Amino acid sequence: MINAALFHPITTGRIALQHRVVLAPMTRIRADELTLAPTEQTATYYEQRASAGGLLITEAVHISPEATPIWTIYQRVTEKGGQVPGIWTETQMEAWRAVVARVHAKGGRIICQLLHTGRVAQPEIAQHPLVKGTDAPLPPVSSSATAIEASNETGNQYNWDKGATLPRALPIDEIPRLIADYRHAASLARRAGFDGVELHAAHGYLIEQFMNDGVNQRSDRYGGRLENRCRLLFDVVAALVDEMGPGRVGVRLSPTHLDPETGHSRQVYFGVRDGDPLALYTHAVEGLNAFPLAYLMLTEPRVGGLSQSPEAEDAYRHPMRNRGYRDLYDGVLVGAGGFTPSTATAAVADGSYDLIAFGRWFLSNPDLPERLRQGADLTVYERETFYGAGAEGYIDYPNLEQGPGRFTTMPQSLIGGSLRGNRPVTT
Ligand SMILES: Cc1cc2nc3c(=O)[nH]c(=O)nc-3n(C[C@H](O)[C@H](O)[C@H](O)COP(=O)(O)O)c2cc1C
Repeated sequence: MINAALFHPITTGRIALQHRVVLAPMTRIRADELTLAPTEQTATYYEQRASAGGLLITEAVHISPEATPIWTIYQRVTEKGGQVPGIWTETQMEAWRAVVARVHAKGGRIICQLLHTGRVAQPEIAQHPLVKGTDAPLPPVSSSATAIEASNETGNQYNWDKGATLPRALPIDEIPRLIADYRHAASLARRAGFDGVELHAAHGYLIEQFMNDGVNQRSDRYGGRLENRCRLLFDVVAALVDEMGPGRVGVRLSPTHLDPETGHSRQVYFGVRDGDPLALYTHAVEGLNAFPLAYLMLTEPRVGGLSQSPEAEDAYRHPMRNRGYRDLYDGVLVGAGGFTPSTATAAVADGSYDLIAFGRWFLSNPDLPERLRQGADLTVYERETFYGAGAEGYIDYPNLEQGPGRFTTMPQSLIGGSLRGNRPVTT
């Protein structure tokens, strides 16, 4: 069998899996505009990607109005519309229940990724019909009143194109309310039938805005020392585990480290930086051993802005950087970011990771596990339709038996190759 290491069964927490090819969480900005709930198309999208004993992680699902950004950064969203989904109303819960049922009917497992974006969200959500006239707390909030600076999405930096509104520093007496918002979202996810929830504690959003000293300037027990900056992470994980039970909570972190040559972080999301990322993520990963998690997912710091075509994408040739955390974490470890079929297989075979989450290749190949098993050509993803309303580039990618249709395909062996002569990139 091709890519055989990916097809050994494994149990992650309480979730029994038949293979190790996971759908990485991917925001698609196609929720219903009025209810901010998933739609029939959303259910089709996840159903298409479900397989017997395969794990899907949903797109980021927002825990409250305060948590919810409006993605004007993407031109297609400005032109075509599109919103991200939430999980704080009963209507949203019922809509997610329909999604979960479709995945379970195919024997798949599905986890709901819970997100609070902190200072990445904009105050304009106050005008949304779901929010207007309510007393819901509004964005942006963060650990401290430090705003995102504007910059374009380039290299290993990922940022907003305009400067953001200055966030309100969450006062310490509001932290219980914030944790209650996470807990409420998790309780709805449980009622919707999800197999678990994942805390999105990566990519520069609220939890990372507490963890990183470039943003967090607090002097209370949620700021200052490492232990204090990681406190919100552990408090929220504890609440989620309490709500979901053991083995039903995953956590995503995006460790980075300083490039010895430049002294800068290898990967920066929304301007979130730390003076000593290695110490920070070591503390976070070791601390997570105290919880009965389903898994810990780590983003490899090589994926940058995800904006390249597959042939030009350097991420597929950069080495993995997170190997050191394998020795620190006792549970199931999921890797994400820049994996090709062969590097994913090697990472599982040599024990670097237990499971591999594929983003872009799973987006454009609904039957990715089967294609990996067979070594079949993959449909090449179309970057233009990643985000924004519409079925195109969402539910029209074909299965193997449907043939490529209007799409381009690529042999698995060429992914990570280079038009510039197949040089490996090692920096
Ligand atoms: C369209 C798109 C949306 C994404 N949205 C999310 C998200 O909502 N939550 C998250 O944790 N990561 C998100 N990511 C990152 C992916 O989970 C994954 O780490 C990334 O695509 C790199 O993996 P890949 O090289 O297999 O594509 C997104 C990536 C893409 C391409």
